[in-house]
Amino acid sequence: MGTLRIDRYDAGHNEKSARKRRNWGMFDRTEPFELFAEWFAEARRTETVNPDAVCLATVSPSGVPSARMVLLKGFDVAGFVFYSNGESAKAADMSANPAAALCAYWKALGRQVRIEGNVAPVSAAEADAYFATRARGSQIGAWASEQSRPVDSRAVLETRVAELERKWAGQLVPRPPHWGGWRLVPQRIEFWLDRPDRMHDRLAFARIGTGWTRQRLQP
Ligand SMILES: Cc1cc2nc3c(=O)[nH]c(=O)nc-3n(C[C@H](O)[C@H](O)[C@H](O)COP(=O)(O)O)c2cc1C
Repeated sequence: MGTLRIDRYDAGHNEKSARKRRNWGMFDRTEPFELFAEWFAEARRTETVNPDAVCLATVSPSGVPSARMVLLKGFDVAGFVFYSNGESAKAADMSANPAAALCAYWKALGRQVRIEGNVAPVSAAEADAYFATRARGSQIGAWASEQSRPVDSRAVLETRVAELERKWAGQLVPRPPHWGGWRLVPQRIEFWLDRPDRMHDRLAFARIGTGWTRQRLQP
């Protein structure tokens, strides 16, 4: 296969939207959570698919990084919460090394947020409460999938789902003991806004004691 050159694909469109962008007082902020909440609310209005999808980066015990998308299920000043299988590859990384990072990118807004810190599992009560809100199909799926482990065919999974549907018929599906949430407690949050000519706006917050320091960064 030859080399694929990706150059200036729809750059004109991006450039035009970037010229219209302003930073709307982003640099007046003294703490990151309210700014994140505002950007997230705008993303929910403007992104057509999964505004809550964020890339989660973890590091294995031997120092190998790994990144994948997860859905952000909640955030407040305590941190950013996502859910997964506790026996997955990412869970193994996080239990060996709690340092992790999340990255959100909202294309329509031309905005990126990078969040870095340590993760800790959410309480069983918090995971139970969220699991109870999930669609029944997703609840069954959480039991059916031995996430990140090999499987011979889709049929194996479908048979397992059918068995579990019979098992839990007429009953509430409980949370699998191996399924839960993690909260990333940020030490650093950086907001990035697409501006013309690659002269983007960047604002980084770093935790210091109970407060935050702020720094504008070069693009
Ligand atoms: C948009 C999107 C959202 C996803 N959300 C989740 C999620 O919330 N939790 C999850 O465990 N996997 C989610 N996945 C699947 C993961 O990216 C990944 O394939 C899976 O968790 C296994 O990762 P691991 O083997 O590194 O543990 C999502 C994938 C996409 C593309």
